[in-house]
Amino acid sequence: MKRSLDATADRFDDQSETYDETRPERTVETARRVTDRALADTDGSETALDIGAGTGAVALGIAAGVDHVCALDISDGMLDRARTKADERGVDSVTFGYGSFRDPGGTVDLPAVDLVVSNFAMHHLDDGEKADAIETVAGLLTDGGRFVLGDVIVFDEATRSVEYYSPAVDDPATVEYLVRTFEAAGFAVTTERVGPMAGVVEGRLPEP
Ligand SMILES: C[S@@+](CC[C@H](N)C(=O)[O-])C[C@H]1O[C@@H](n2cnc3c(N)ncnc32)[C@H](O)[C@@H]1O
Repeated sequence: MKRSLDATADRFDDQSETYDETRPERTVETARRVTDRALADTDGSETALDIGAGTGAVALGIAAGVDHVCALDISDGMLDRARTKADERGVDSVTFGYGSFRDPGGTVDLPAVDLVVSNFAMHHLDDGEKADAIETVAGLLTDGGRFVLGDVIVFDEATRSVEYYSPAVDDPATVEYLVRTFEAAGFAVTTERVGPMAGVVEGRLPEP
């Protein structure tokens, strides 16, 4: 991680009031793809977890298609904004709380989950931390559970661009690294490129 958890949280606290109006189209598009993929295989009974939920783009997007969503973030400002949006929309099936990739259960009593989603948050971790986080997610999921991850991803070095990330604070992984790491954690994996340097990795654990 290029910045501490607290420094990252402070940065997002500062952006929280304007985040929704200023977020780049690439995060909007991957959030849409993560939401669509998550909902493509749900029956309404699922418990879901969104890690790095921010102002709730994906958590609120999937809420109507699952039973419950637990939305975690390290930024109180982003979580406050997400709670306000849930209230405004009359959504009461999403609970919000402090939690990180390293310690998802920070302040939340985590249930077993059928689906984990995350959009544009994991690139704050270095590759070793990403591997730990993917292992942790695999451990939280029930048999047959899915992890749908949208993020800044290096698909090829020719399209690596600082328009997509800030090298001072961000650490995007290559798609090969993510696929290898998902597979090592037991997932069967598919990938989708959403833009020059953005995409979705979806992993599914085996059924018993
Ligand atoms: C670019 S925003 C994306 C928010 C939301 N997922 C979306 O699609 O709009 C990244 C979010 O990840 C959170 N974040 C960064 N590092 C994190 C970590 N280690 N654990 C949990 N959340 C983290 C930030 O606080 C921020 O809210």
